[in-house]
Amino acid sequence: MAHQRPTHDLTPEQSIEALREELRHHEYLYYVLDEPVWTDAQYDARMNQLRALEAEHPELVTADSPTQRVGGKPKEGFAKVAHSRPMLSLDNAYDEAELRAWAERVAGGLALGEAVRYVCELKLDGLSLALQYEAGRRGVAVLKTGLTRGDGAIGEDVTTNVRTIRSVPLHVSAEALARAGLSQRFEVRGEVVLPQKAFERMNAEREAQGLGPAANPRNAAAGTIRTLEPNIVAQRRLEFFAYFLLRGLDAGEAAGEPVLGSQSEALQALREAGFLVNPHARTVESIEAVLGFIAEADAMRDGLPYEIDGVVIKVDAVAQQRRLGFTGKAPRWAIAYKFPARAGVTRLEDVLFQVGRTGKVTPVAVLAPVSIGGTTVTRATLHNPDEIVRLGVRMDDFVSVERGGDVIPKITEVVADAKHPRGEREIVFPTHCPRCGEALVREVGEVDLRCVNVSCPARLEEELRHFASRGVMNIEGLGEVMVAQLLGHTLAEQEVRSPEDAEAEVDAAEEPTRRALVHSIADVYKLTKDELLTLERVGEKTADALLEQIERSKKQPLQRVLLGLGIRHVGERTAQALAEEFGSMDALMEATEEELTRVNDIGPKVAATVREFFSNVRNRKLVERLRGYGLTFTAERKVRGTTLSGLTFVLTGTLPTLTRDEAKELIEAAGGKVSGSVSKKTSYVVAGEEAGSKLEKAEQLGVAVLDEAGLLAMLG
Ligand code: IVH
Repeated sequence: MAHQRPTHDLTPEQSIEALREELRHHEYLYYVLDEPVWTDAQYDARMNQLRALEAEHPELVTADSPTQRVGGKPKEGFAKVAHSRPMLSLDNAYDEAELRAWAERVAGGLALGEAVRYVCELKLDGLSLALQYEAGRRGVAVLKTGLTRGDGAIGEDVTTNVRTIRSVPLHVSAEALARAGLSQRFEVRGEVVLPQKAFERMNAEREAQGLGPAANPRNAAAGTIRTLEPNIVAQRRLEFFAYFLLRGLDAGEAAGEPVLGSQSEALQALREAGFLVNPHARTVESIEAVLGFIAEADAMRDGLPYEIDGVVIKVDAVAQQRRLGFTGKAPRWAIAYKFPARAGVTRLEDVLFQVGRTGKVTPVAVLAPVSIGGTTVTRATLHNPDEIVRLGVRMDDFVSVERGGDVIPKITEVVADAKHPRGEREIVFPTHCPRCGEALVREVGEVDLRCVNVSCPARLEEELRHFASRGVMNIEGLGEVMVAQLLGHTLAEQEVRSPEDAEAEVDAAEEPTRRALVHSIADVYKLTKDELLTLERVGEKTADALLEQIERSKKQPLQRVLLGLGIRHVGERTAQALAEEFGSMDALMEATEEELTRVNDIGPKVAATVREFFSNVRNRKLVERLRGYGLTFTAERKVRGTTLSGLTFVLTGTLPTLTRDEAKELIEAAGGKVSGSVSKKTSYVVAGEEAGSKLEKAEQLGVAVLDEAGLLAMLG
């Protein structure tokens, strides 16, 4: 690439620096303050501008540039690195008495009657990290190393992954350092967590790939931070909360700098320096007030977007911390108050097999009622047949049950000791559908067993619930109970279907006692007021409201209708892509598999299921009926460029400036398609650094190979 000399008013270096400053500021507004000012598109446009400039001037690329979050992968796993100062753990208190005993020990270690202030912080349930900042050019501090706790003395160097966490500054400006009262060398410690939403998304993806789910967000965060693929880490959306600040990068250096006055000042300094500090922290002057904070934290626990497992209480004044010192592994000046465990031990009484919308059969554990964290738990998911094997669980076993946030409780292990004898009966997975009797099928490469009978009543029930749900056709009033009523179940039948009476549930699920008003999702649109009025506890008002909601749902866009059809593998994103690409139900119904695979994100597997769905006569009839009722069957087509239309690209290796996703987006926006594997049909392989077997394959097949510059040139 040509090294141009600066010819404009602003030198390229100055333009690059200005863009970086702007981007850093907006990243801070977005990821730390959660108060975005730019739209995503504005952000992307500036980022692309910076990338383009950096591509023209590769000699000006620095490690702390906002473009450099996702870099090359660590070659040989993670190096072991000694901590600058030991990373301690905390002693625990499990109840009020233990907390008060700690406060007394603190008082005993100080002068008689000396006042103590405490800082109360949430105890975030993730894993701790140490981030080391060193001097960069022109008075700034740059992130050099990110270490896991390891054994407290030696951690693992996970810098490449830490860099992808957007709330971790890669760069702290000289002004921010001055505001925070910091020199250019310091260390920040804190907790990396995987927010609940990101955790759920990760598990949904794992499930789609036929992998077992991660047990909880902490394990998921720990696994993610040790992933060898920074691209994947970047997509997971980890968050880092800073809670501890150390001056200098070793004890000697720190000794030469002013002492931080208190933990509350350290938190403030961290905020000033641009770190994400948890907003729920409070400085208080008595143990009563600490208890008040604990009660508040407990109350807000379920509403937080990440998991916490307690409250950390620290003596605020650093002078007092020094006098209190340490015991073996933990400081005397801090304690972790742990919330009561959200786990319990109970007996597995039975296993039900639930049939879902796609026919997937899920084993559900029926448990002897047990109170866990204030909620009575009677059910837990067993996920799939493999999970039963993995746990080695038998009927009548005692099992340990965990309840996290608002996820379905799960069984974590079998408990077997003198008080908890093992059960004897094996759990037998059914070979036939418990609702319709059809033989269950396990597809190659999948862990789940499925009922493939499209008219299975269990599937209809789930299909209806899905169709009416908020994210699909959004028909308020058509919830679980109403669906069951429409299918002919009386309210009394539904009552015995509550968790308290598992056996009754199995029986009641068999045959509804009334005539069903609905036999397919299209029937929802022919329901009349008179019919609705025959249902229990449905009066004029309820009936009118429901009919109005049903009428309104006809205005839902095509992508929602597609989603509502419940085609396997067609989730929100795919439905949207299909609607945008084809612009109408008709065009989609006639699309060939080849045309389908040309769409963003649609591979042969999805294309085949879509094709299969629309070739089925029953499904086509359903679609025609929906058309007749006036549902939305057209959508605005997304205009895509045509520069690359008809061309298929395969990306491999690490590109100098673009991430995989970005390269993919650019190609798709220009009408091209990105595929995962090289074949004779591949038009170009775009290879970056450390390209492996795909590049070899391209060479074997004689497929043209481009570098990033070549791709950008094609895009113009
Ligand atoms: S302070 C010497 N503050 O809990 C100070 N730790 O059980 C050490 N943790 O290893 C840590 N939230 O991983 C501190 N606000 C918080 C915390 C916190 C979570 C974790 C941390 C620590 C463990 C100790």
